[in-house]
Amino acid sequence: MDELVRAESRLNKGTLVMNAVARQLISFAVRAPSGHNTQPWQFSVEQDTIRIYPDLSRRLPVVDPDNHALFISLGCALENLVVAASQHGLAASVDYFPSDEPQECLRVRLSAGADAGEDTGVLFRAIPERQSNRGTYDGRAIVASDLARILAASRRDALEVRAFNVGDPDVEPMIRFVREGNIAQFNDPAFIAELVSWIRFSRGVEEGRAQEHHQIEQPGRHPSLEGSPPLYPNGCPPSSWAM
Ligand SMILES: Cc1cc2nc3c(=O)[nH]c(=O)nc-3n(C[C@H](O)[C@H](O)[C@H](O)COP(=O)(O)O)c2cc1C
Repeated sequence: MDELVRAESRLNKGTLVMNAVARQLISFAVRAPSGHNTQPWQFSVEQDTIRIYPDLSRRLPVVDPDNHALFISLGCALENLVVAASQHGLAASVDYFPSDEPQECLRVRLSAGADAGEDTGVLFRAIPERQSNRGTYDGRAIVASDLARILAASRRDALEVRAFNVGDPDVEPMIRFVREGNIAQFNDPAFIAELVSWIRFSRGVEEGRAQEHHQIEQPGRHPSLEGSPPLYPNGCPPSSWAM
């Protein structure tokens, strides 16, 4: 209740104070996952409205020709923004690409009065902790009851999440497809050129500048920096790659 009243008074004090709240909300939005870590978003703040714009200068035409990963990424940023707003006691009303806007955007109108339930609290606390991880774990199978909880938690009308266990007969054909897909991609010079243009190779950049600024020149992370198993055909990176 306290937080709700404070959020309301912040809102009523006008643009400057709202900007401070908006800045904080945006700092949570930009922690969202994004396709290939391109972080393809821009924000504007006006009174009680935050707009999220696609940053088309960050599109990856070879790997994401129809921008679908780019737009899903905007949805991820929006979700974080809405969750963070509710923790500030702010309700968010979202218009998706409204036709009265001169530029394509997601428009988020904030108003006092959100009920920050326990569920959003859990999601909010996960924002700074969540991380995509493709690394190899310790080789032990996931405990069946944990797996059941993960699958139950992700059950939604429009979405089906399935788990495949290593060694299951239905996994082998998928591995073949993934391998073939990787080989086709890495044999495509346009794919390699695009990858090299957005990936950053230096661990120093990863640990230094990247953490100070959410937006960086080359946001892509080299697979070895995130613990991925080798992606390249034959286990060898193309000769144009250097670490
Ligand atoms: C729409 C979308 C598509 C993604 N596709 C892949 C993918 O195909 N393979 C993959 O390993 N990660 C994928 N990711 C995860 C991103 O690479 C990851 O979120 C990004 O590098 C940022 O890292 P973080 O999630 O730890 O913040 C995807 C993320 C989004 C939002």
